[in-house]
Amino acid sequence: MKRIDSPEDLEKLRRKLRSKKKTDKTTISVCVSTGCVALGSIKVLEAIKAELERQGLVETVNVKETGCLGFCEQGPRLSIHPKEICYFKVKPEDAQEIVSKTVIKGEVVERLLYKDPATGKVARRLDEIPFYRHQVRPLLANNERIDPKSINDYIALGGYEALAKALFKMTPEDVIEEIKRANLRGRGGGGFPTGIKWETTRKAPGHLKYVIVNCDEGDPGAFMDRSLMEGNPHSVLEGLIIGGYAIGAGEGFVYVREEYPLAAENITNAIRQAEEYGLLGENILGSGFNFKVRVHRGAGAFVSGESSALMNAIEGCIGEPRPKYVHTAVKGVWGRPSCLNNVKTWANIPLIILNGAEWFRKIGTEGSSGTAIFSLVGKVNNTGLVEVPMGITLRDLIYKIGGGIKDGKKFKAVQTGGPSGGFIPEQYLNLPVDFDELNRVGSMMGSGGMVVMDEDTCMVDAARFFIDFLLEESCGKCIPCREGLRVLSRILNDICEGKGVEEDVMIVEEIAETMRDASLCALGTTAANPVLTSLKYFRDEWDQHLKAKRCPAKACKALVNYYIEPEKCQACQLCRRECPTGAILGGVEQVHWIEQDKCVKCGSCYEACRFNAIVKLSGEPIPPPPPEGTKPVRRRGGR
Ligand code: SF4
Ligand code: SF4
Ligand code: FES
Repeated sequence: MKRIDSPEDLEKLRRKLRSKKKTDKTTISVCVSTGCVALGSIKVLEAIKAELERQGLVETVNVKETGCLGFCEQGPRLSIHPKEICYFKVKPEDAQEIVSKTVIKGEVVERLLYKDPATGKVARRLDEIPFYRHQVRPLLANNERIDPKSINDYIALGGYEALAKALFKMTPEDVIEEIKRANLRGRGGGGFPTGIKWETTRKAPGHLKYVIVNCDEGDPGAFMDRSLMEGNPHSVLEGLIIGGYAIGAGEGFVYVREEYPLAAENITNAIRQAEEYGLLGENILGSGFNFKVRVHRGAGAFVSGESSALMNAIEGCIGEPRPKYVHTAVKGVWGRPSCLNNVKTWANIPLIILNGAEWFRKIGTEGSSGTAIFSLVGKVNNTGLVEVPMGITLRDLIYKIGGGIKDGKKFKAVQTGGPSGGFIPEQYLNLPVDFDELNRVGSMMGSGGMVVMDEDTCMVDAARFFIDFLLEESCGKCIPCREGLRVLSRILNDICEGKGVEEDVMIVEEIAETMRDASLCALGTTAANPVLTSLKYFRDEWDQHLKAKRCPAKACKALVNYYIEPEKCQACQLCRRECPTGAILGGVEQVHWIEQDKCVKCGSCYEACRFNAIVKLSGEPIPPPPPEGTKPVRRRGGR
């Protein structure tokens, strides 16, 4: 690679890459990000390559390996350009047809197109799919057009133009001012104004300063940062270099959690390529600005995502939080001013510098500009990674983009902000999603996890789940968090088992308050949010568990019994075969019944019965079984 020594050289290279692209041949883009790889996209990629070879098309067709497109549950996916045809759930066996029909004849393979399960409508392009139609995707859209291992792909699409603009047309103060005017708030969860944080680090005493990317997302079900880092690592790196220039840092770190090997590989490769081009290292683009970046791999602990814990880890110590009497922006890594931002925050920087603060402020709401990326998971029809303007309502997110609740069930709550966020009930479905509105109802934006829950979710059990997760992940350094979580977990587990007492509610509230006020780090101070919102919005469910020893959602195993309704049983014996403990009795032509003392409540029979003959009971008496052999089955259809 020839070093680029000036913004003019960068422009020259960009023009050359673009003109090459114009005359370019058909391109087949295959997603090789973690989600699609898990579904077999590498085999699809190999099959496509082999087919092109077999048909003698290697020279005329490009194959591009790209990052995540968001709708991972429909993977492996590929798209064919310039016609922009998108195929989902592709198998290696489809390669021959894709090449023969679509590549050679320009025909579409109908069965590989997306079919809307609600309307049956077939979509050829991304913007015809409801999941994408309601999104605004400045951060994620390029994932499809870029091979994350190719810096040239990024440059051809305008990459590093913002860096050149910042270095040659703006002073560091101008850059900070632009970020402040854009009102970019930290995408890691806190929503603190990014420009002010940068300014604090810039003004902090000392000439050795650091900028850091936090790619340690560990919330259950969250994969936003991973997808961005895997799919478009240069956008994060460019943002970091611009941040280094604005803040006056000579060195940056990219902290990547251990569980994200592909993200670490792609950012490491991006750093090497940027260095070779002279976009990183000494005298960047001939501007005189020197900046280097190192990748630091995490060791797999959730708490390491907390800023001081992460900085401890970078120093080579255990990734545990430390007291922050002085902000890390002033006294961070090795006691030096250190500015830590989330992956998405950094990736927004080049867009703001290039398009201006006004452009950014036009997206989103007055108080929260720009877009938000969520991993929409749980009981929605369309799960995946979505990018939406701040201010979109929860209802639009869940129903228009998410396609509504699975199996036509009723919405109960949505958990935003990961384990430290809160449950938001149905009454707030029209809530505009932004930092302040979510805080107002007791939840938070967090790093962007969004878990949808339906009528079958027990909200006491859901609170227990998140508390148990945090108990497992607490570093145990401070007593309020360590002991508070332990007691909360014990109480919640007791309640879910029908052993709770009414005074438990008071104890839970006291502990939650103490943890919020006295814990050392954000894990402890926010840990009780799910419990508090569960209590606030679903108090009736708590009372039913405590007073009637009943789980209204019939989700708490200890409070549920399975029962076979004799009128509905068709004696098909399916449940009997599935039962692991031999608890189901009955034979040919005889209604079945469950011996309750042998039942371990695994639910296998409930899942297996095709006649809805098995019901769950909670807090009500179980009718006695029919006397063995005396009750012949009554077949459907009157037999
Ligand atoms: S309960 Fe359901 S699965 Fe079991 S025998 Fe009756 S009809 Fe078949
Ligand atoms: S819940 Fe599990 S153990 Fe109980 S009867 Fe059904 S299959 Fe058997
Ligand atoms: S990983 Fe392929 S679409 Fe998300």
